[in-house]
Amino acid sequence: MSDRYAVIGNPVAHSKSPAVHAQFARATGQDIDYGCIEAPLDGFADAIARFRAAGGKGCNVTLPFKRDAFNLAQRVSERARLAQAVNTLRFEDSFGDNTDGIGLVRDLTENMGVALHGRALLVLGAGGAAQGVAGALLGAGLRRLVIANRTLSRAQALAKRFPGVIAQGYDALGAEHFDVVVNATSAGLAGESPPLPEGLLNENTLAYDMVYGRDTPFLARARAAGARAVDGLGMLVEQAAESFFIWRGVRPATRPVLAKLRGS
Ligand code: ATR
Repeated sequence: MSDRYAVIGNPVAHSKSPAVHAQFARATGQDIDYGCIEAPLDGFADAIARFRAAGGKGCNVTLPFKRDAFNLAQRVSERARLAQAVNTLRFEDSFGDNTDGIGLVRDLTENMGVALHGRALLVLGAGGAAQGVAGALLGAGLRRLVIANRTLSRAQALAKRFPGVIAQGYDALGAEHFDVVVNATSAGLAGESPPLPEGLLNENTLAYDMVYGRDTPFLARARAAGARAVDGLGMLVEQAAESFFIWRGVRPATRPVLAKLRGS
């Protein structure tokens, strides 16, 4: 029987992770079966226990369970500890890791060809998504990393935990140029864009939305301003490749998978 893995979340039916891992498995000759598990909001630990009992070897964890997964793992990586969130569980040694940050950095640098070293990057939002990538962004050699949030105190709390991060409110943005602007808010899910000042997004900006599978008002606004606008599909594929490596010890090529998902 194939080794079993899954993505666990709520909702999770929209996830492209099963398709991504199926392609990784084919390309690397790894015999795995990767499914999708929707756990009840109060039933994460039970769902994990059931999956393990049914022969599961590990799983990806998505919203809203990354914090639960962090609490469940007996041992976590340093990057997961910093993020206070786990998106990858390996059951045999109850190990938890977080591959979101490295996934974003690899997508930007390797797939988008953006050299982050010496650049100014702005993250919009200070929730779980921002917390998951702040550590990896800090490690990428940026000249400046600003986190802006509607509720300033949340950005300030994040900056305290990640020395080097500068916290701001949206009203303080506008004068400064950012090479890359990453939308880590959940505003797009409600059909909204964070309140950005005129001129923040322009021909010299890469506007990146961590969400995939939908065109957000943030991306539409970026395109209208002449910015390069990209969704989070590449991040999904890159974080998946790192998870696959943690489970299988084999690093799959990501380019062909991303090209196929983008239909090019
Ligand atoms: P997640 O885990 O997806 O990051 P979260 O922890 O609830 O979810 O955080 C959501 C983020 O999106 C927060 O930064 C939130 O801003 P506040 O902290 O001020 O609430 C941000 N957000 C959600 N809707 C927004 C909107 N319409 N405009 C700007 N920011 C928004």
